[in-house]
Amino acid sequence: MIQSKPVGARTVRQSLYSQIGGEAGVKQLVETFYDLIEQHPEGHAVNLLHLRGHGVAHSRVEQFNFLSGFLGGPNLYAEKYGHSNVRFMHEHVEINAAAKDAWLTCMDMAIDEVGYAPELKEELMRNFTVVADLLVNR
Ligand code: HEM
Repeated sequence: MIQSKPVGARTVRQSLYSQIGGEAGVKQLVETFYDLIEQHPEGHAVNLLHLRGHGVAHSRVEQFNFLSGFLGGPNLYAEKYGHSNVRFMHEHVEINAAAKDAWLTCMDMAIDEVGYAPELKEELMRNFTVVADLLVNR
């Protein structure tokens, strides 16, 4: 006997990349995040860390490339650099618990500013928190 599947039995899960609006969505999130890093008091310490490196303008570009793949879209960072090892990217950056918290707070504020649904925000923040925790090296 052939059994037909009830409609909706197979749930196709959309990538976070498409849920936030693909390329344009990643771009908007990244720009909003680094605007806060550069302008909001909460971002000050993380901004100073960027100024010791290649600067925020550089990270705006590479964060876009990285998040594109990280969220399930095109692997632009890996295509450009041959890896997407986020710990390696931060090896030279002194990251303590306060810097991690500040980074996450700015991302939380950026997500509020672009106005995603609460469930989408929660899933994004869960993913960012896992990575941020791994990056604390002081
Ligand atoms: C935990 C707190 C974090 C701090 C304090 C931090 C700080 C920094 C700094 C200072 C740079 C610039 C390095 C340089 O120019 O030499 C940077 C670059 C970058 N960060 Fe973070 N970061 C944090 C978390 C994250 C997270 C959670 C992600 C990804 C989800 C991320 C992705 C990146 C990427 C893709 C770059 C550019 C790498 C490149 O230049 O090739 N960061 N970060």
